[in-house]
Amino acid sequence: MRIIVVGCGYVGLVSGACFAELGNDVVCVDTNPARIAALNGGDCPIYEPGLERLIACNRQAGRLAFVEALPFLGNDVDLVMIAVGTPPARTGGADLSSVFAVAEAIAARAHERVVVVTKSTVPAGTGDAIERLIAAARPDLDLSVASNPEFLREGSALADFLRPDRVVIGTQDARARNALMRLYRPLTDAGVPLLSTTRTAAEITKYAANAFLALKITFINEIADLCEAAAADVRDVARGIGLDRRIGEDFLRAGPGYGGSCFPKDTSALAATARELGMSLRLVEEAILVNEERKYAMGHRVIDAMGGDVGGKTVAVLGLTFKPDTDDMRDSPALALISVLQQAGAFVRVYDPQGMDNAAEFLAGVAFARDGYDCVAGAHCAVLATEWAELRQLDLSRIAASLAVPVFVDLRNAFDPAALADAGLMASGIGYPMASLIASRKRLELGRPRKARPAQVPAPAEADGNRLRHPHHATLQ
Ligand code: UDX
Repeated sequence: MRIIVVGCGYVGLVSGACFAELGNDVVCVDTNPARIAALNGGDCPIYEPGLERLIACNRQAGRLAFVEALPFLGNDVDLVMIAVGTPPARTGGADLSSVFAVAEAIAARAHERVVVVTKSTVPAGTGDAIERLIAAARPDLDLSVASNPEFLREGSALADFLRPDRVVIGTQDARARNALMRLYRPLTDAGVPLLSTTRTAAEITKYAANAFLALKITFINEIADLCEAAAADVRDVARGIGLDRRIGEDFLRAGPGYGGSCFPKDTSALAATARELGMSLRLVEEAILVNEERKYAMGHRVIDAMGGDVGGKTVAVLGLTFKPDTDDMRDSPALALISVLQQAGAFVRVYDPQGMDNAAEFLAGVAFARDGYDCVAGAHCAVLATEWAELRQLDLSRIAASLAVPVFVDLRNAFDPAALADAGLMASGIGYPMASLIASRKRLELGRPRKARPAQVPAPAEADGNRLRHPHHATLQ
């Protein structure tokens, strides 16, 4: 099939490259000349595992091209896909100006008939608005408009695209539905379920999926706080509830709060849609607030772990992106964490395997380290903010030995608490019992062989209920 994908951002590039991979003839359009020049020069402007190679192979095979302007849409074009960004507007809703600009361009460039498919995440009713806009400009045009939302996770977008849980096609127009069914046939033939709905149901499905996942994460984060207070391990609880098939094990990893380009934006846009319709999605509204507060609370958690006063001290932040395997810094919990630490007077040193360039745009007054070990050297605390594989493989004993004060805060529960304690680290994680850490530290004090500098191992912390205090300021700072 011959497909035009408008927008060479995350969704457009992954979709364009994958449709080409499925054997289609794809032209990707973006009005940003630098982006098109980079793509034509063989560079991939975003970090996504496997994408650069997929683009290169399909360009070489002549199935994928990048251009600056929407080409003439002759009758040989099977469909035009809108995949431009829908960033948050000031109202909290989605800014649809790019989507409507593309719709206008389609109206101007279409010959006799056109199938328009919206892949951008757009609020309920946007397909109707696109249809009205194009039809008003071109009453002569034989027009079909469909919704086909994406459910791609950054970092595993190619697998999510080529082996999705489902494909959702939202249209009651037979021509659009047939075109989309043909487009996805290689996937549906391989057993991927295809769900055909109305356009508006498809639009809402995308937001509802993301909002539900955001609620699930927010829920387990609150349960993690409860576990800390009650001396239970949230990882046991998450598994205990996740094995119930009605709940499912995914998205029950407690952490510093969700971030990224989708959950924060989409939950807020969904809540805005509800308000526009004269109602309120109270659960979603509350999850947004709880998650936002949590990201900042992580800064205070680190300050507590350091004994309450971080003025003039150095905190090493390992991992900056909102999750591993992406260079995306948007709404990353690390940003809130770092701002709290800086406001409290800490000096922050950071390292991320892929996010350093983007992070430089978001962060001021931090020092950028060469690698994980360089980041922690001489620091008064290390914080794991993003669970990159590279960071999970760091040698904990070496970290303990090179920190000035061996305090480690694992905001992603990436490390085994016993391994952290055995390495000589005063560690804390999210939602697991401090009691076990106290026990491991007591074992250390009782003379277990230490791999880290014995002189640096702090005096025992006092347990206050289930919270640790670190009464070692005088000796260790
Ligand atoms: C999300 C959706 O998963 C995807 O389907 C949609 O189309 C786009 O938005 P993405 O933002 O790439 O994808 O990342 P995702 O893997 O969903 O993680 C989002 C955030 O939630 C990250 O900050 C991640 O660290 C956090 N998260 C995820 C948790 O804190 N705990 C979990 O168990 C899962």
